[in-house]
Amino acid sequence: MILLENVSKTYESKRLTVEALKGVNLKIEGGDIFGIIGYSGAGKSTLIRCINLLEKPDTGRVVIKDVDLTALSQKQLRKQREKIGMIFQHFNLMNRRNVYENVAYPLKGKGLSKKEVEEKVFKLLELVGIKDKVYSYPSQLSGGQKQRVAIARALANDPEVLLCDEATSALDPQNTRAILGLLKEINRKLNLTIVLITHQMDVIKEICNKVAVMEGGEVVEEAGVIEVFSNPKANITKEFIAHSVGSEKLDKAAEQEFLRNAAEYEVAARLLFVGQAAGQAFISKISIEYGVMASILFGSIENIQDVPFGRLNVRFSGNKAKVHEAIKYLERNHIKVEVLKENGDIESVDAQCNRVIS
Ligand SMILES: Nc1ncnc2c1ncn2[C@@H]1O[C@H](COP(=O)(O)OP(=O)(O)OP(=O)(O)O)[C@@H](O)[C@H]1O
Ligand SMILES: [Mg+2]
Repeated sequence: MILLENVSKTYESKRLTVEALKGVNLKIEGGDIFGIIGYSGAGKSTLIRCINLLEKPDTGRVVIKDVDLTALSQKQLRKQREKIGMIFQHFNLMNRRNVYENVAYPLKGKGLSKKEVEEKVFKLLELVGIKDKVYSYPSQLSGGQKQRVAIARALANDPEVLLCDEATSALDPQNTRAILGLLKEINRKLNLTIVLITHQMDVIKEICNKVAVMEGGEVVEEAGVIEVFSNPKANITKEFIAHSVGSEKLDKAAEQEFLRNAAEYEVAARLLFVGQAAGQAFISKISIEYGVMASILFGSIENIQDVPFGRLNVRFSGNKAKVHEAIKYLERNHIKVEVLKENGDIESVDAQCNRVIS
């Protein structure tokens, strides 16, 4: 549906040159809810604005449904843009027009009768669940309601793609969930491809099926959401995930604390388990079969795309060989084990003893 090839964009002002995008390649399939995540300044907005050519890339191609937008005249581009709706963090509604007029605005000059426009507007307002506010003005609406109007307006020309630049960043958690739910619903009902920018992994987790992670104008990681959560590669991706799961501080605490008075071999580890592995009684199993003690420091299970995804920070202690056997057992059972720290001191004490004895 959307293909970006080697897209670069540099902003130049008198004093400053900013390479906002450095040769980005991206492929977004029809029906995807594709998330783009990154810290402030990573180039997310520039990238999404290149998709509808609000921003003209310096190099590269932007192809939507086999049409190369970068090769079109202004007039042709205007026509193509109708197939791409966009919503923003601050809604961008026309404050002096009521809800009806805001939603009807993009239908102007399309040769529709007054009745046809009216039917269309009410249908859209029904879809986004705000029909009762049809004659209200933006100032009379809550943030969530304003975003619903903006979504209805963005859908007026039956686009195939909806671009969302931090569409929920100005909303409270409850409205955020409601708007994300609405986006998911229209993705399914209308088979609409959605590209969504955010700086929160929670948003990605809630509705996206694929995600690209951006850093310094580049896409540093791109994959299915489950894949990224179960096997994050780039450091920045790991940071976003740890932050979203809330285990960031606990990871550090676990590393620092556990070695202090360790009397025996210990390992601090992070266990990740996806799907069926989440239901297994693996902790009891390793204590019974390997005699390894496991203390749970942090744990969470949540559903991402209807797949259970669990995370457990643990401290294993016991005989070193047994601890390692237990870890192998977990890995054989599709649990990803990431050793955060291992108690090396005890090992060296063992080694010293061995040397003295021999
Ligand atoms: N019109 C512009 N003129 C000059 N520099 C710009 C312009 N737009 C963006 N930039 C710069 O390009 C870089 C990327 O900006 P962009 O807005 O794409 O980041 P972002 O990832 O959307 O950040 P945020 O999360 O804060 O919205 C930044 O360093 C920014 O300062
Ligand atoms: Mg931005």
